[in-house]
Amino acid sequence: MTDEISKLKGDALLRIRDAQDESQLEELRIVFLGKKGSVSLKMRSLGKMSNDDKAKLGPVLNALKNDINQSISEKKRELRKQSIDERLKGEWIDVTQPSKERKWGTIHPVSQVTDEVVAIFSSLGFSVAEGPQIESDWYNFDALNIPPEHPARQEFDTFYIAGEQKSDRASNVLRTHTSPVQIRYMESNQMPCRIIAPGRVYRSDYDQTHTPMFHQVEGLAIDKNITMANLKWVLEEFCKAFFELEKVELRFRSSHFPFTEPSAEVDIKCSWDDGKLKVGEGSDWLEILGSGMVHPKVLEASGVDSTEYQGFAFGMGIDRIAMLKYGMPDLRSFFDNDLRWLHHYGFSTIDVPGLHSGISETAIKSTEI
Ligand code: PHE
Repeated sequence: MTDEISKLKGDALLRIRDAQDESQLEELRIVFLGKKGSVSLKMRSLGKMSNDDKAKLGPVLNALKNDINQSISEKKRELRKQSIDERLKGEWIDVTQPSKERKWGTIHPVSQVTDEVVAIFSSLGFSVAEGPQIESDWYNFDALNIPPEHPARQEFDTFYIAGEQKSDRASNVLRTHTSPVQIRYMESNQMPCRIIAPGRVYRSDYDQTHTPMFHQVEGLAIDKNITMANLKWVLEEFCKAFFELEKVELRFRSSHFPFTEPSAEVDIKCSWDDGKLKVGEGSDWLEILGSGMVHPKVLEASGVDSTEYQGFAFGMGIDRIAMLKYGMPDLRSFFDNDLRWLHHYGFSTIDVPGLHSGISETAIKSTEI
């Protein structure tokens, strides 16, 4: 019997050693240790043996079972390692290979500058409001103190949209400015408020500095004691942060808008050296926005009590300040969809405007309004 056992052991260990994969190994486990396996059958035959034989063969068979088990698990480990090594060989990647060229898009300067403007004004406590681009002439004109016969209606080069049948008056327009958002906001919100409203506006005009669609940002701050001084401070802080300057000089030039009283157009100091524009220094002035104290009639048209509340408003061309900041000479190219232009003037997607990403820290330092 012991001879038989050592033969069995030799045979088992040899076959285990030569197993090619895990399934063969499992088959061998069943052949030797399964219910009807050769080792198990031998164990079962112990029952018919004498006590002496049992005491002699029992431990030998147990040791055999352990040895086979152990060599199976060792072989299993070895096979696993082998298969991982093989996979690693097959899946080897040459990380020094140049990667495939990918075309990246860019952020359009208008989007970038809008985000910059929003970041700066939100640090000054303004939130963003929006309104529709197709506007009724009441919101675009009447509510802003521009009645139908007012000459300012002509100045706006308005795109009219055919009105309802039976009426000879156009009822809708493509908004000519962002000022109607002031009315919509005041109508549906409690005062006080501090908002900006960036968006598209439309006027029938086309040359180097005008396109039929362009972008404005409206500003509106209403409270019980807001004055022109607040307007001046906010605009100065904005210009410092936006143009990344330590100091800016703004000029408030008396002007007229039907919806503000008094009204002022605001110029920023600049220079033209060798045909190159520099903002913030020099002896020239460049107009950047229109502003003023909101006209009491406008407050009343929006349901705000003008004996209790007052405030300032301004409207600024986003494309215009983008041209000034990034030196883009022709507004028309903004909307040509020319990839060469977009790649030249566009911004990287990771260049997210924020006061921390470098527009300017001055606005952070002076947010105590
Ligand atoms: N809405 C004016 C424009 O488009 C700008 C403006 C806004 C002026 C608010 C004063 C106050 O020209």
